[in-house]
Amino acid sequence: MPTAIRQITPVFAGEVSGIDITKPITKDEVSAIEAGMDKYAVLVFRDQRFTDEEQMAFSQNFGAIENAHGGNITKPENKRLASGMNDVSNLGKDGKPLPLDSRQRMFNLGNMLWHSDSSFRAIPAKYSLLSARVVNPKGGDTEFADMRAAYDALDEATKREIDNLVCEHSLMYSRGSLGFGEFSEEEKQMFKPVRQRLVRTHPVTGRKSLYLSSHAGAILGMPMPYARILLRDLTEHATQPRFVYAHKWKPFDLVIWDNRQTMHRGRRYDETQARDVRRTTVAGDAPTVAQQAAE
Ligand SMILES: [Fe+2]
Repeated sequence: MPTAIRQITPVFAGEVSGIDITKPITKDEVSAIEAGMDKYAVLVFRDQRFTDEEQMAFSQNFGAIENAHGGNITKPENKRLASGMNDVSNLGKDGKPLPLDSRQRMFNLGNMLWHSDSSFRAIPAKYSLLSARVVNPKGGDTEFADMRAAYDALDEATKREIDNLVCEHSLMYSRGSLGFGEFSEEEKQMFKPVRQRLVRTHPVTGRKSLYLSSHAGAILGMPMPYARILLRDLTEHATQPRFVYAHKWKPFDLVIWDNRQTMHRGRRYDETQARDVRRTTVAGDAPTVAQQAAE
């Protein structure tokens, strides 16, 4: 059966059939997937029984794997997965669910806030690829919001107001909003805010999108309360059900999303049971705006 993409919601997201992506794929197939990503922004592939090595090899068709340093508080010696794999599970190195009061677990709860992966990096991520290895028995959907459709639906005055605004993003903002505010000096240094445009233009399609994330906590030149109200207001607008696709995981689903045109969040699940989902991240190729000169 030739590769086909079926659109899932009225605005975005597609389900791909007719391709085994655990094996090496051709240049034409890579191009077809990229074209699908540009159009649908989220692609779902069912029944792809990846090993970590195969997932990394498939991901590298779309660019270099992002260096994960500075994206988490988990110390290298406590990591369950090899370098290049982001652990989005609730599991410790022993393969068992982490205690509920584990600092690592609580930090990772930030994934349940709407965000775009690595928006806290000066060069933020291009694609994320999430592979479900063990699906939790209760909850744990991932929701995606189409930030192009959300931008298009803004009124003209709001578009003019926000078109050139620049935000500051940091893991300390997203975690701080959950009351997780204790960071070591080393972590504070690692999580220093970076600048991102509030409105991005897709390099291939030219479509504009809102570049929101719970990591965004300030807007340059705007007093904090005004900035936070604007960001909340835009986030509320952008995450209305008409812009959202909720993915219900089956074992061995692989979902790819374009972080430049979507936000996502995990939903709550039974924390006493395993949820083993593994992410590879394809690095972006440029900052969205000039960063502050080094001090
Ligand atoms: Fe994420």
